[in-house]
Amino acid sequence: MYSRIIGTGGYLPEKILTNQDLESMVDTSDEWIQTRTGIKQRHIAAPDQTTSDLALIASQNAIKAANISVSDIDLVIVATTTPDMIFPSTACILQNKLGIAGNSPAFDIQAVCSGFIYALATADMFVSSGKARNALIVGSEVCSRILDWNDRTTCVLFGDGAGAVVLTQSDTPGILSSHLHADGSYSQILAAPASIQSGKMEGTPFITMEGGTVFKFAVRVLEEAVLEALNSNHLQPADVDWLVPHQANIRIIASTAKKLGIPQEKVVATVAQHGNTSAASVPLALDQAVSDGRIQPGQNVVLEGVGGGFTWGSILLRW
Ligand code: COA
Repeated sequence: MYSRIIGTGGYLPEKILTNQDLESMVDTSDEWIQTRTGIKQRHIAAPDQTTSDLALIASQNAIKAANISVSDIDLVIVATTTPDMIFPSTACILQNKLGIAGNSPAFDIQAVCSGFIYALATADMFVSSGKARNALIVGSEVCSRILDWNDRTTCVLFGDGAGAVVLTQSDTPGILSSHLHADGSYSQILAAPASIQSGKMEGTPFITMEGGTVFKFAVRVLEEAVLEALNSNHLQPADVDWLVPHQANIRIIASTAKKLGIPQEKVVATVAQHGNTSAASVPLALDQAVSDGRIQPGQNVVLEGVGGGFTWGSILLRW
């Protein structure tokens, strides 16, 4: 038995923050941001919108696209680094908001920008083994809440949003393979290192990053992760119809594709409009390419992600 995605959905908050808007907030320029990152704008959640609110709309869109009833969902996984609260999990809050409280297991996955890859790989194990029939997998983030809006080296990079898929049992693939990795010795190069010690918060809750080190690390491991996916299915880069990468920086996306020999026309890029939405970036990009008809049945699609931890991974699927 295999698992297969039968519906995708996305949601981006109404408010758009452009590079020009950022010019009046920190010492930066539209030219610098576009040249170094490819980002033109990002969406920002309203003050009263939480990660589960964004996840709810993306989930409803995915369930509608899957043409199933919400009561058919028997597993809920949310990938997020910006949960509504320390606990309960955002997945439990989402399950309740969907009106299916008590119907399924529900849990969060914390793998930062690789979160959706980790969550989809986990759901695949439930569905392909028969432990779940229809899994809802969501990447949802309000990155804007963990940014220092005075730090130009980070605040220009991230945005808010949510993407979701419904994964169901299938006799035909579907997901062909998933490959997950982590190396905790790189935990300090990208972090929001706040912790509670003796009842007091220690460290900053805002994103801190060694940009150059992260850049080099990302390009190296993403190439390896995609090759691992291809090799384990006896496929070549030329067999890839669509590469749906994590959307952190257009230069990382372009370098990875170039090293692999995958032409840019086969790469789905949303980073210009969304910025880096962490765990939401891959499902939002996937939803866009499915909705606009680029991804077609029978095609080979590679998803990849990298993020804090460090974590990284890839998933190869036949659409
Ligand atoms: N606007 C204007 N100047 C800025 C700036 C901004 N928003 N942010 C940094 N700068 C400045 C720096 O201070 C530096 O100035 P200096 O030379 O006077 O010290 C200069 O621009 C160059 O900085 P540098 O860090 O070398 O730029 P870069 O080409 O490496 O690009 C990143 C910086 C952050 C865009 C790039 O390193 C990157 O994308 N890294 C990966 C980040 C990422 O993807 N994180 C998430 C992974 S999941």
